[in-house]
Amino acid sequence: MKKHNIEMLISEDDVKARIRELAEMFSSKYKEEGAVLVGILNGSIFFLSALAQSMTIPVEIDFMAATSYEGTDSTGKVLVTKDLARSIEGRHVIVVEDIVDTGRTLSLLCDLMRAKNPASLEVVTLLDKPSRRTVGFKADYTGFEIPDRFVVGWGMDYNQLYRNLPYIGALDEKDL
Ligand code: IMP
Ligand code: MG
Repeated sequence: MKKHNIEMLISEDDVKARIRELAEMFSSKYKEEGAVLVGILNGSIFFLSALAQSMTIPVEIDFMAATSYEGTDSTGKVLVTKDLARSIEGRHVIVVEDIVDTGRTLSLLCDLMRAKNPASLEVVTLLDKPSRRTVGFKADYTGFEIPDRFVVGWGMDYNQLYRNLPYIGALDEKDL
């Protein structure tokens, strides 16, 4: 198996501390009405787990999944491969994502979820690469803004590897 050079961008302690801050904020914001956390598979699994376990209010958890692929046009296509298991009508929804890159995935998934008439819908992403955006999408809460590097760890993968790294690492440009 090829070994990649991985540079640490954000330490495990820093990631965990930021997630605890976000969890505290959501716990107080939704303490009266509760919330449904919707994780976007597969990348959100570690962030969603840590966020949910640091929250001090009961939350429901559901998932959606999508794959994106480059078509012949430059807009790309996003295909939903797993829909929500339960209704979110009238519920307060917090969409949980690993990273916003072009913004295409969340832009589509949020439109689909808003059409189901939730009471409210907010997006939290662990990482944001604002320099890569191709569609007008902005998360409501961001863990960290990062430069245009390909990152792994905390659920994010390179060819399905490195999702389990406990810190955020960046791959060498020449390995990509
Ligand atoms: P989008 O371009 O904003 O639609 O991002 C689609 C998905 O690509 C993200 O949710 C991630 O799962 C994945 N992705 C984007 N940038 C990276 C990266 O640097 N490392 C790993 N996965 C990424
Ligand atoms: Mg993702």
